[in-house]
Amino acid sequence: MSTDPLLQPFQLKHLTLRNRLMLSSHEPAYAEDGMPKARYRAYHAERARAGIGLTMTAGSASVSRDSPPAFNNILAWKDEVVGWMRALTGECHDHGCAVMIQLTHLGRRTRWDRGDWLPSLSSGHDREVAHRAFPKKAEDWDIARVIADYADAAERMQAAGLDGIELEAYGHLMDQFWTPLVNEMEAPYGGSLDNRMRFAMEVLGAIRERVGDDFIVGIRYAADEVEQGGITKAEGMEITRRLKASGLVDFLNVIRGHIDTDAALTDVIPVQGMRSAPHLDFAGEIRAEAQIPTLHAAKIQDVATARHAIASGKLDIVGMTRAHMADPHIVAKILRGEEDRIRPCVGANYCLDRIYMGGGALCLHNPSTGRELELPHEIAPAAEARRVVIVGAGPAGLEAARVAALRGHEVVVHEAANDPGGQVRLTAQTPRRAEMMSLIDWRFAECERLGVRFQFNSFADADTVRAEAPDVVIVATGGLPHAEGLAEGDGLLVTAWDILSGDARPGSNVLIFDDAGDFAALQAAETIAATGASVEIVTRDRNIASEVMGMSLTPSLRALQGRDVRFTVTWKLDAVRRAGNGLEAQLGSDYGAFTRTREVDQVVVNLGTRPLDDLYFELRPGSVNLGEVDYEALVALAPQDVRRNPEGAYRLFRIGDAVSARNTHAAIYDALRLSRAL
Ligand SMILES: Cc1cc2nc3c(=O)[nH]c(=O)nc-3n(C[C@H](O)[C@H](O)[C@H](O)COP(=O)(O)O)c2cc1C
Ligand code: SF4
Repeated sequence: MSTDPLLQPFQLKHLTLRNRLMLSSHEPAYAEDGMPKARYRAYHAERARAGIGLTMTAGSASVSRDSPPAFNNILAWKDEVVGWMRALTGECHDHGCAVMIQLTHLGRRTRWDRGDWLPSLSSGHDREVAHRAFPKKAEDWDIARVIADYADAAERMQAAGLDGIELEAYGHLMDQFWTPLVNEMEAPYGGSLDNRMRFAMEVLGAIRERVGDDFIVGIRYAADEVEQGGITKAEGMEITRRLKASGLVDFLNVIRGHIDTDAALTDVIPVQGMRSAPHLDFAGEIRAEAQIPTLHAAKIQDVATARHAIASGKLDIVGMTRAHMADPHIVAKILRGEEDRIRPCVGANYCLDRIYMGGGALCLHNPSTGRELELPHEIAPAAEARRVVIVGAGPAGLEAARVAALRGHEVVVHEAANDPGGQVRLTAQTPRRAEMMSLIDWRFAECERLGVRFQFNSFADADTVRAEAPDVVIVATGGLPHAEGLAEGDGLLVTAWDILSGDARPGSNVLIFDDAGDFAALQAAETIAATGASVEIVTRDRNIASEVMGMSLTPSLRALQGRDVRFTVTWKLDAVRRAGNGLEAQLGSDYGAFTRTREVDQVVVNLGTRPLDDLYFELRPGSVNLGEVDYEALVALAPQDVRRNPEGAYRLFRIGDAVSARNTHAAIYDALRLSRAL
């Protein structure tokens, strides 16, 4: 019997959880027609099979028609959900994992132009900044209707065989009643704390009446909104006491903060570069006060911190949610004594940001997450071992090497620099983005363990590659920043990469033209502004940093606003000329024949990268496939069998930014799809 605190069973009422690790409720936006079908099921089953104790499915599963999906949520108000949830629960139960679901009415945290175009509902008329809808203020018949909807949804989940439910009370309708910042109701639902909690208590009462005492019911709630005029810590403690005294809840899941803006949400769910486990001590205080089972998740990314959370008595169950998106097999690895092989979550928040942009959750550095059906996490050995030569040790090259080695191939990697990392190493120069290096370090460690041979400081040309007598060559040489295309003045430009690498010294009055919209411009701006320089970021797009999504943008904006960096949208850079001791930047517009000028001493551009592809084109004539990729086979994970050149000695492929400038996920996905079929 293990003595690891994380692996101790936990008794939650009549339910024995096999360990202390859970997936806290998170909506990956995989629902199809509002139902958790095969993709959804496979995602949870993968983690259940690997040993997680509890999965809190869905995220914000909707109990009412006028709570339309904000991010492709499960529609718990439909009877057909029972069959789908039964199938999911059955599969997870077969693997020994308990299953619950989070139910909610989103209130004003959604939009009226989704679903049935019903007005969104709240306890007041103020819009929520993040979702923008101005809600209807609830009438008595709305309250009665929604209470009944909650009870109906709870009953559906009980009928589907789930072990319990969790109600969402942070930023959604339930705590929109609690918080004086939103609630504009008259008595009996507005005013005193008793009145503000009345709706939640009536919902809990109705649910209990419907599901009885044996079904587990918990609540995930903001016990301190950390906002002027909102629920204070003292009031949160009082709410906690009242929830306990009601006898209606079996567990508490603690949240600290508010989520009505991107910035606030980022403090509740911290991203890369932010403090680890920032609310753990607070959750511990709640547990000490309430003395009932307490759950919590917020950037507890590594097993050591999770273990501490349990061992120190701060929590009964610890959520490692994004950590399990990055590596679904955490528990299995702990059990096998392979903790050091866990693929670390790097806090890039690609997963969560994507759902707010209308996509499904994908992990920046694990392309199999959310693609369990078509791209399994496990990699099977190949029938025949080959010699694979990879050029470039950035994320794409390392992933190709890792996967090819797992397939049993003999792999050698040539890298021009003296370390692995490529563009990621440059990105990680900004301390806030340093966690990105884990993406490289983990792959490099895995490659070394698998016997991949690395040749650093090796600027491989075609002869170097041919001398390895390869069966397969993969060019993963990445790209170089682009700095051309102005009507005048290309030679006067500095790139964002020059600033990040230290090759160019920051000016004192700087215009940054950001055409790529990714992190590089923001990071360069931060580096330059930190010297005290004046910085303006200009972009041709309608929005700033179009490729950096909401929560990921928060730390950058905090840094940049704090230093008075200015943003100008819908203008493009047309020309740069010398003017006296400085430069004149000429701006133009797509909207008309408008021009503006700026007098500056430095113009920095972020125009994306262009493929570093000389080697690829040098190697092409000697290859069997002349570099051609069979996309049908690539997508189907089938072997590449294009034959264009009978004289060819090897198969040749290129991946990642060596093909075209894309993001890290795309580069790794290119590598994984290709290599697992080699
Ligand atoms: C893709 C995604 C969707 C989420 N959706 C919800 C949700 O609907 N309801 C909720 O309470 N929390 C949601 N969360 C927050 C998680 O439950 C958790 O609090 C958060 O990810 C912090 O924990 P972690 O650092 O272990 O990931 C979501 C998280 C992710 C990554
Ligand atoms: S996208 Fe980033 S934050 Fe999300 S799970 Fe993957 S590594 Fe973690």
